[in-house]
Amino acid sequence: MYVCVCKAVTDRAIRRAVREDGVTTLRELSRMHGVGTGCGKCVPEARRLLAEALAEAPARSLPPAAAVIEQVAVG
Ligand code: FES
Repeated sequence: MYVCVCKAVTDRAIRRAVREDGVTTLRELSRMHGVGTGCGKCVPEARRLLAEALAEAPARSLPPAAAVIEQVAVG
């Protein structure tokens, strides 16, 4: 199913980005796939799917806690 019609990004692509590319934030998803960079209507659904994919992702695909803390601190 297309989540971002403007950039032709599917729910599967978002799950893959989390699982294989280590994407953990909407910002990263936007940089890599352009999600939300067009009309922006997909942002709430992309955010929801990202959270869902992160919850399902195996621990090894998540970044080290220090990287997450640094990301939060920097913004
Ligand atoms: S649907 Fe994603 S930017 Fe328009």
